[in-house]
Amino acid sequence: MTRAAVVGATGYSGAELCALLSRHPHAEIVSVFSSGKKDARPIPFERLHPLLGRASGPEAEPFSEKRLEASRPDVVFLATPNETSAELAPKILEFGAKVIDISGAFRLRDAAAYPKWYGFEHPAPKLLAEAVYGLTEWCGAELPGARLVANPGCYPTSVLLALKPVLPLLAKEQPVICDSVSGVSGAGKKSDVAYSFSELDGNFKAYAVGVHRHEPEMRQGLGLPEDAPFVFVPHLLPVVRGLLSTLHVSFEEPQTKETLAAAYAKPYEKTPFVRVRAPGELPELRDVVGTPRAEIGFAVLPGGRRGVLVSALDNLLKGAASSAVQNMNRLFRHPETEGLA
Ligand SMILES: NC(=O)c1ccc[n+]([C@@H]2O[C@H](COP(=O)([O-])OP(=O)(O)OC[C@H]3O[C@@H](n4cnc5c(N)ncnc54)[C@H](OP(=O)(O)O)[C@@H]3O)[C@@H](O)[C@H]2O)c1
Repeated sequence: MTRAAVVGATGYSGAELCALLSRHPHAEIVSVFSSGKKDARPIPFERLHPLLGRASGPEAEPFSEKRLEASRPDVVFLATPNETSAELAPKILEFGAKVIDISGAFRLRDAAAYPKWYGFEHPAPKLLAEAVYGLTEWCGAELPGARLVANPGCYPTSVLLALKPVLPLLAKEQPVICDSVSGVSGAGKKSDVAYSFSELDGNFKAYAVGVHRHEPEMRQGLGLPEDAPFVFVPHLLPVVRGLLSTLHVSFEEPQTKETLAAAYAKPYEKTPFVRVRAPGELPELRDVVGTPRAEIGFAVLPGGRRGVLVSALDNLLKGAASSAVQNMNRLFRHPETEGLA
């Protein structure tokens, strides 16, 4: 059994982690934590997520480093704000557990990017070189041996899974334009007015254009320099969960539906949680919400020089918790689908 702890278990993605781990045949949840800032009382395990029903597990306690270490986890999932993860991960590694961090604290290689994109100086810059960027389907032997896994962001997961296979076909001088929409749970349990029902219901808007912190993560994942023509426009969709990216691309040489299908076939022929659809068949949110799967569809426009790629996933699952469990399975050499299929 893999002994797992979840910090941030009272948040949206931490609760999903608890639900998945509680059903995992080779994981034992040894401790779960809230921040303890709002309420110092422990929260019964089964109240963390509706799917837990009568499942038994440890109460969510106010976070304490001592209690975490005393629970002797093999792996600690950090479902916490970026700065909290950046502070906690080195201490956890110090006492010998592995860390799977679902925040952005260890995703960027360049420590100098943190003040600009995340608003803080990175407290453990040396670990940025060690962290394995856990886009599971594109990881190799580096993942099973890792101590620290930086789980990818939800928008980058959708964009990178769709773009990486076709990258060699793209026209270098033409922009890739990513219009991505996310359900509101992508922002976590915020109480800002901008996330209130009256602001969101019946509304739809673009936000953070040119300043979203997932943009440098996507450029890094695609190997694009800061001045490469790449446009990312996130939108807030008034649904609770689900994320869909529509990518507008140009090809160096004319393509057909057969050549694009061939580009996707090899990377995803054996991936249990990435499904590529038949040419012209585009995934919708309802195909993926509540599942650990990303689905990708594509269409080649007349003339073959332009294409549209669509990538859909559940931001709290393939965009966060289920991909973190996929990474745990690889780290501890459990079958990749364990606890998820
Ligand atoms: N939401 C998504 O779709 C998504 C997708 C991918 C990645 N992520 C990333 O995952 C992380 C968690 O996101 P979320 O949406 O689940 O956030 P959330 O709903 O706001 O939950 C945050 C969790 O962190 C806990 N926490 C806050 N400060 C803490 C501290 N100083 N020490 C210990 N625990 C602390 C909170 O405890 P309390 O309940 O006590 O406040 C809560 O359990 C973020 O870094 C986010 O960027 C989120």
